[in-house]
Amino acid sequence: MTHAITADDLRKVFRGRREVRALDGVSFAVEEATVFGLLGPNGAGKTTAVRILTTILRPDSGTARVLGHDVVHEPSVVRTLIGLAGQYAAVDEHLTGRENLTMVGRLNHLGRTVVRDRVAALLDEFGLTDAADRPLKTYSGGMRRRLDLAAALVARPSVLFLDEPTTGLDPQSRNDLWEVIETLVDNGTTVLLTTQYLEEADRLAKMLAVVDQGRVIAEGTPAKLKADLGATVLEVGLHDHGDADRTMAALAALGPHSPTREGSLVEVTVDDGPRAAMTALRALDSEGITPIHFTLREPSLDDVFLALTGRRAGGGAGQDGTEAGTGTEAGAGTGAGAGTEAGTGTEAGTGTGSEGSGQGASALGAGTGGRP
Ligand SMILES: Nc1ncnc2c1ncn2[C@@H]1O[C@H](COP(=O)(O)OP(=O)(O)OP(=O)(O)O)[C@@H](O)[C@H]1O
Ligand SMILES: [Mg+2]
Repeated sequence: MTHAITADDLRKVFRGRREVRALDGVSFAVEEATVFGLLGPNGAGKTTAVRILTTILRPDSGTARVLGHDVVHEPSVVRTLIGLAGQYAAVDEHLTGRENLTMVGRLNHLGRTVVRDRVAALLDEFGLTDAADRPLKTYSGGMRRRLDLAAALVARPSVLFLDEPTTGLDPQSRNDLWEVIETLVDNGTTVLLTTQYLEEADRLAKMLAVVDQGRVIAEGTPAKLKADLGATVLEVGLHDHGDADRTMAALAALGPHSPTREGSLVEVTVDDGPRAAMTALRALDSEGITPIHFTLREPSLDDVFLALTGRRAGGGAGQDGTEAGTGTEAGAGTGAGAGTEAGTGTEAGTGTGSEGSGQGASALGAGTGGRP
């Protein structure tokens, strides 16, 4: 098995008003021509990992390689091999969709005719042909995301990084995008995607790493992660807290997973949903408890998290991802820029705003650093 991406003990601490250990020894390997999913709640370190792998940011320590090339020592080579659609759209507001894509093609030193044809094909594939000649500032959020993705594909990269590619997309666009990704992978592209949606990882990823507070806390196929968790979640809502206590006890008997409770809502993951539901109903009935809500549902990432960490995703270290772009960021930029190519100028480009740092990298491949 050949690995297209390897990360080995990556560490990154952001030192600002408060020290943030964004990556605390993250390792994983991505098999060629597969989708690898990095899952995690807000602030887990997903974007930081992607930024290191795409040469935007230097790790404090650890190594990472893309198609055998070290991201710190051979950033310019790495940039010619990769595409990135960042978490925050990296496109120029004042240019039209077509102009944005054309610019990316030109920055990648592709010939005029090649660029024209590829851009037209991508606009078509992403349903943007009608809007192609309107300035981006007239695009909806979903259209921008689609354009950002198209931009990542202009240079036909062998390795594609997608940072929460479907956040903010409607279900239809999300589905379309999943199909595009599947086709790319069928044709040999390797994709690393970050997501907060288990469903997305489940559909696309061959392997997953669940990241929390800068560490990989679980790894495996989606099937394994869900199997570890139990196939289904049984959710029981009660009238009052007293009933919830007794329901906890009744559901604990279903085993092997322990029920959890939030107010008067009790949840338990179960391996055989329908059978467990019947047993639970009988137990509740014999206790004289009538729930106001009784549901069987697929586990969500939140459930995986709860099971793995004992707390809900989105709490704790998260919620502060927007801090980027502060003095720390500029510091990192200077560090990264030292002695390396012009391309690292992308980091400096963050001056325009938080996380806008996706910018230069999104334009991909060679020469993007020079982008104004
Ligand atoms: N440039 C920066 N300066 C200071 N702290 C930062 C910087 N970039 C990220 N962080 C912090 O590092 C941690 C990891 O952030 P990161 O953006 O990698 O998380 P994430 O998993 O991508 O989260 P989200 O799901 O919200 O996008 C967070 O606590 C974040 O606030
Ligand atoms: Mg992120």
